[in-house]
Amino acid sequence: MASGHGNIPEEVIESVLSRHDIVDTVGKVVHLTKRGKYLWGLCPFHSESTPSFTVTPDRGVFHCFGCGMGGNAIKFRMEIEGLSFPEAVKIMAEESDIPVPEGAGGIQSAHNPEIDRLLQAYEWSAKFYHYLLKNTEHGKAAMDYLRSRKFSDKMIDQFQIGFAPDRWDTLLQFLERRNFDLAEMERGGLLSARSEGKGYIDRFRGRIIFPIANRAGKVVAFAGRILGEGQPKYINSPESKLFNKSRILYNLHQSKASIRKTRQIVLFEGYGDVISAWESGVHNGVATMGTSLTENHASMIKALADEVVIAYDGDRAGQAAAMKTLSMLEAVDLRVKVAVLPGGMDPDEFVSEYGGERFREQIIESAVSTVKFKLIYLKKNHILLEEDGKIAYVKEALQVIASLHSSTEREVYLKEIASELELSYDSLKQDCNLLRASMQKNIPEGDNNDKRWNNGRHKKGRIQARALLPAYHSAERSLLSLMFQDGDAATYVNEHLGEDFNIDDHAAIAAYLYAYYAQGKQPDISRFLSSLQDDRLEKVAASISMMESPPDWSPQVLDDYIREVRKYPVQRMMDKKREEMIEAEKAGDFLRAAQIASEIIALDRQ
Ligand code: GTP
Ligand code: MN
Repeated sequence: MASGHGNIPEEVIESVLSRHDIVDTVGKVVHLTKRGKYLWGLCPFHSESTPSFTVTPDRGVFHCFGCGMGGNAIKFRMEIEGLSFPEAVKIMAEESDIPVPEGAGGIQSAHNPEIDRLLQAYEWSAKFYHYLLKNTEHGKAAMDYLRSRKFSDKMIDQFQIGFAPDRWDTLLQFLERRNFDLAEMERGGLLSARSEGKGYIDRFRGRIIFPIANRAGKVVAFAGRILGEGQPKYINSPESKLFNKSRILYNLHQSKASIRKTRQIVLFEGYGDVISAWESGVHNGVATMGTSLTENHASMIKALADEVVIAYDGDRAGQAAAMKTLSMLEAVDLRVKVAVLPGGMDPDEFVSEYGGERFREQIIESAVSTVKFKLIYLKKNHILLEEDGKIAYVKEALQVIASLHSSTEREVYLKEIASELELSYDSLKQDCNLLRASMQKNIPEGDNNDKRWNNGRHKKGRIQARALLPAYHSAERSLLSLMFQDGDAATYVNEHLGEDFNIDDHAAIAAYLYAYYAQGKQPDISRFLSSLQDDRLEKVAASISMMESPPDWSPQVLDDYIREVRKYPVQRMMDKKREEMIEAEKAGDFLRAAQIASEIIALDRQ
């Protein structure tokens, strides 16, 4: 089991777990309220409006009764921030000044030499392209283009912008001279295979190169923009062992310091936007890689910040994308604002037209609430001078406003619409209330927002569900729960039941637990979870560790459970025999039926 961690020493994992309190870790992302022996909150891993997510401080674990996610503090960071186990341990160790031996965990190194070489190749290629842009004749046109778009030398250096000349073999030769394996470079997205015959060519030709770094600041991909107009505007590195678009935010490595301080992230669409915002003094900007925001991104952001300002392009496509993004961010309970850009401009254009100061003050700092943004967005779809357009707009706007919980907020927006469209506030309010009433009726059971936190309905439902588990299933969970708490209980179960659990996951957890205690370790569920290294087992074990169980065990208690566990396969056998007996009787084979009956009696005695 000890080898399951890569080569991160056990002591490091232990110190990380002891220094990172589960309540603090989870509390940064989830608002927790104490109720009974658990802390409850809204689950960050699935969307819900009634809390079914719990933290048990004394055991150091979290568990969601809704989606089944669970584990210790390391697991929580892994899931929220999209990290691997060694990555999470390293980051958490760093945060609490726990020394990690060089090369431990093999984050993108040590374990996988191919990844190591690829990182080296990207680092050198980025430097090479940057050099070509700045210092050679090849880069001149690109440099002129960047200057015309007001990219300063300082930004070109800081973002290590480069240029790939319009030739087939610039990078090819560079990599060849440095003895890189070209097939490997092709897999990593730096070269392309020739379409006919053997050999390779440069993937990026005649393009401005924006290096994409991971959160550790290592270049893992390139985005190549065409000079001026043309299609495709961008060519990106393909997804590789290093690069996963849905987990990368452009510029996060540079912006994370400011994000940590402000707890705010500004989300852009384009690389140029991030760069010119940076120059304007907005140092908490990131961008997705051209694709839309994923749920992965949303949980990463949630772990880093409390508020997001969406600063997408002012054109129709940008605004539609902002609508989608805002609902994904609100779904993970982030505060969201939207920066509204005039006349279909993008942030980069705004900065070059009006300067950084106005950009900061009039765009970023004046970002509007999501409701306001939705109203602006809806309004654009209708011609308000026409009666039909007006009515259609009001209908859609009321949907947005009626879903607001605060009556003050509803009043503000209703008044705004009333005066803008010259309608009566009273009748708008009446319509809004009618809409609210019908919306409440349609809210599904258990999701009643107005009664959340204290309806107790959810919790009761869960406990009933548990109580309905078949007896052998509950017995197995109870056994494991006692075994988690006490090594002697585990030894007793090992001797009397071993791995004869009926449910495979339970048998596997038991096996791991026997091994865990065999190494002389003390009961510690959080530490044990880390040793599992298996997503499903971890969830099941975390869920079991949440069970109420008697503080002490006795052989009698364990025997009762063990009997229940052993009974199940016998009972199943008896059921099968009964069916066979009925079949035999139906077929008129009474001799065979009598034979089976005696077998059943024998089984029953067991
Ligand atoms: P500029 O025109 O230089 O301001 O570029 P931009 O980065 O602002 O591009 P745009 O607003 O058109 O698109 C926003 C983002 O979408 C870009 O930064 C890219 O990430 C992505 N994107 C745009 N065009 C393409 C394309 O042709 N291919 C790919 N893969 N991504 C693209
Ligand atoms: Mn743009």
